[in-house]
Amino acid sequence: MNIALGSDHGGFEMKEEISSLLADLEHRVADVGCFSKDSVDYPEIARQVCEHVRQGSSQFGILICGTGIGMSIAANRYRDIRATLCHDAYTARMSREHNNANVLCLGGRVLGIEVALDIVRVWLDTAFAGGRHQRRLDMIS
Ligand code: RB5
Repeated sequence: MNIALGSDHGGFEMKEEISSLLADLEHRVADVGCFSKDSVDYPEIARQVCEHVRQGSSQFGILICGTGIGMSIAANRYRDIRATLCHDAYTARMSREHNNANVLCLGGRVLGIEVALDIVRVWLDTAFAGGRHQRRLDMIS
């Protein structure tokens, strides 16, 4: 699938690792940056990834900043974006199954790389359960 990927400087190294994983899994990655450890503003990166998802050029987005918090706040300001900050495989699975998340947010300074890669794998492999969860999402859309 097509996946939009972005980070600020706090998530740059993790973004590079996730980009390699996505390529190994044969996904097509739209990397919107950043492209070095130089300081950048996370809201601009979040905007670009969310645009990809909202326009349909990417099915999912992945955003990484130092904590994942700024990216999740920024991304959730966009209509039809359901961005979820995940810390482990459980929150990753539930954010897809119950919340139909379409943008995954990660903390590059919070998570170890193996945990982050595990989160990405589980998140991409889990389907939305629908039913009562769709009703609840309708209430906040
Ligand atoms: C950048 O220093 C840091 O504030 C950013 O990566 C993120 O953690 C914000 O929420």
